[in-house]
Amino acid sequence: MTTPVLQVTHLRKQFGDFTAVDDVSFAIRPGEILGLLGPNGAGKTTTIHMLLGLITPTAGSIQVFGMDLATHREQILQAVNFSSTYISMPLALTVEENLWVVARLYGLTDIKRRVDEIVKKLEMQEFRQKITRKLSSGQMTRLTLAKAFLTEPKILFLDEPTASLDPDIAHKIRALLKEERRSAGLSILYTSHNMREMEEMSDRIIFLQRGKIVAEGTAREIVARFGQADLEEVFLKLARESRETA
Ligand SMILES: Nc1ncnc2c1ncn2[C@@H]1O[C@H](COP(=O)(O)OP(=O)(O)OP(=O)(O)O)[C@@H](O)[C@H]1O
Ligand SMILES: [Mg+2]
Repeated sequence: MTTPVLQVTHLRKQFGDFTAVDDVSFAIRPGEILGLLGPNGAGKTTTIHMLLGLITPTAGSIQVFGMDLATHREQILQAVNFSSTYISMPLALTVEENLWVVARLYGLTDIKRRVDEIVKKLEMQEFRQKITRKLSSGQMTRLTLAKAFLTEPKILFLDEPTASLDPDIAHKIRALLKEERRSAGLSILYTSHNMREMEEMSDRIIFLQRGKIVAEGTAREIVARFGQADLEEVFLKLARESRETA
């Protein structure tokens, strides 16, 4: 069996008395796309923030490329990137200037070529000179994705990467993610509330509910286990049960 690129063991996060992530363990294999699914407040973003070292776990361990995140944070983060709607970037800079800042922070070389390439891949030519403050939400999402791709990471954490994209761009982003996985062996952990996208993209899915893993497997396996017609039905069943017992 191949060594996972990411191994999470008994991960827990408490905010005061509240447990946001509760004893979560999973692994991502090289080149795997893992979907993190769950209702609002299930603990998906909190999990991703721990994987990025943005918040410290209350308990448990995170190993990336066999190294402990707690002790090898800087080395690990060179090979990891992320995209989320909450990323704050200097709003007074243009799109292109922001990409240059990221490239410099990561110590990239051949920056012009890389920026041109990513702008083209994400079809951002039209707004590359725009001031970031003036971007539409879909354009902003593409900028955060561009930032994530720019550093050619080995692992990408994507928190609702297609949430505000129009169907055409969302389709292109999905195709791009699959292509990067195929050509560069990119491993991806992502979240989405779009069940069709989850089914299409994920090699495996982890279903979180109130911080705990309640189902894990391929979309097909999960659908079969819960005896539902599709992933959307499974989601509705689990989310409603969770709310009724809350
Ligand atoms: N800094 C914090 N302090 C206290 N509670 C927090 C904090 N961050 C998150 N939480 C709580 O932890 C729980 C999980 O939040 P999280 O953002 O991880 O959910 P999520 O699965 O990403 O949901 P969504 O689908 O809405 O994005 C929520 O109940 C949230 O209110
Ligand atoms: Mg979230």
